[in-house]
Amino acid sequence: MKRILVATGGGDCPGLNAVIRAIVKRASQEKDWEVLGSIQAFNGILWEPQEIVRLDEKAVAGIHYRGGTIIETTNKGGPFTWPFKKADGTWDVADRSEEMIRKLQYMNIDAVINIGGDGSQRISQRLFEMGLPIIGVPKTIDNDLSSTDMTFGFQTAVQVATEAVDKLVTTAQSHNRVFIVEVMGRNAGWIALHSAVAGGAEVCLIPEIEYDIEKVLESIEKRFQHNRGFCIIVMAEGAKPKGGTVVGAQPDEPGYENFRLHGASVYLREALKNAGCQHDIRETILGHLQRGGVPIAYDRVLASRFGEKAVELVKEGKFGQMVSFRFPNIIDVSIKEAISQPNFVTMDNDLLKAARGLGITFGD
Ligand code: F6P
Repeated sequence: MKRILVATGGGDCPGLNAVIRAIVKRASQEKDWEVLGSIQAFNGILWEPQEIVRLDEKAVAGIHYRGGTIIETTNKGGPFTWPFKKADGTWDVADRSEEMIRKLQYMNIDAVINIGGDGSQRISQRLFEMGLPIIGVPKTIDNDLSSTDMTFGFQTAVQVATEAVDKLVTTAQSHNRVFIVEVMGRNAGWIALHSAVAGGAEVCLIPEIEYDIEKVLESIEKRFQHNRGFCIIVMAEGAKPKGGTVVGAQPDEPGYENFRLHGASVYLREALKNAGCQHDIRETILGHLQRGGVPIAYDRVLASRFGEKAVELVKEGKFGQMVSFRFPNIIDVSIKEAISQPNFVTMDNDLLKAARGLGITFGD
């Protein structure tokens, strides 16, 4: 008898359910293997009473095309930084990692599969160093992990962004307007770069290249003659002007550590007006539309392969490893290596060069 516990952590991402289903399907081929799911990342283990669900073939039937995660997720805290309210009403964090490992031992868990992005895999690595038999599965729409060619969810996000650009082109053209489409990606410009190329945008602004407002204005003007024309700017939420800062706020949510990037496009609209842009400008912030809904086929396939491989790694006892996609194979890398450096758009990136070759300007 082997008992695997699965958790999904961090922001949700199209394809999570396909991973869960693949884990269960692959594990069911082994004699007496059981798969359990912890609700909301590791919260399900630490909550009292615990919230642990049995994941059998019936529980995962037909979930491969469903968005979200059937075992829920959270991006607030974790076993090392568990948020709790103090007697005076303020919030603090506690380290409950040792307690969690004890609970997992008591539950006779032989292996944990932690599906999550950068932050979740940092937690995986620390738990592994404490002796927990854990396997990582990378997840993020941002595609900002360097140890895998691609993360599932990314292509779905690019598809959503591209479809939005396609729609906005028609209204921009009808009204002779400038449209700024703000996409997600945190500090990585991958979603913006891919959807700008796929959607045929004129300008693409990414966190890796600080933009010069005058250059952006110049690119817009080239698209207009006697006030007729239109222009599509795809902008990453983390893009910032030369010498400026990112736009957003720190949400007042206990345990939430990330700065919430939001509104770069609103800032850009104002900056363009102040720089003398005479055209109508509208912005559309796509936000969580890029993360919700059904995963496209590409992501379902990648997610299914990741789930299947994760169980293979459990079988081989290769703990401390994370599944990874290195075209054309699914391989494994150490979680430590996986979290050592992020994947940002570099200036010699082939797609960036191609985009410039297509006439897309980056405001530099
Ligand atoms: O990391 C995935 C992501 O969707 C980022 O692109 C975005 O900045 C962030 O998460 C949004 O987080 P939240 O769901 O907490 O608002």
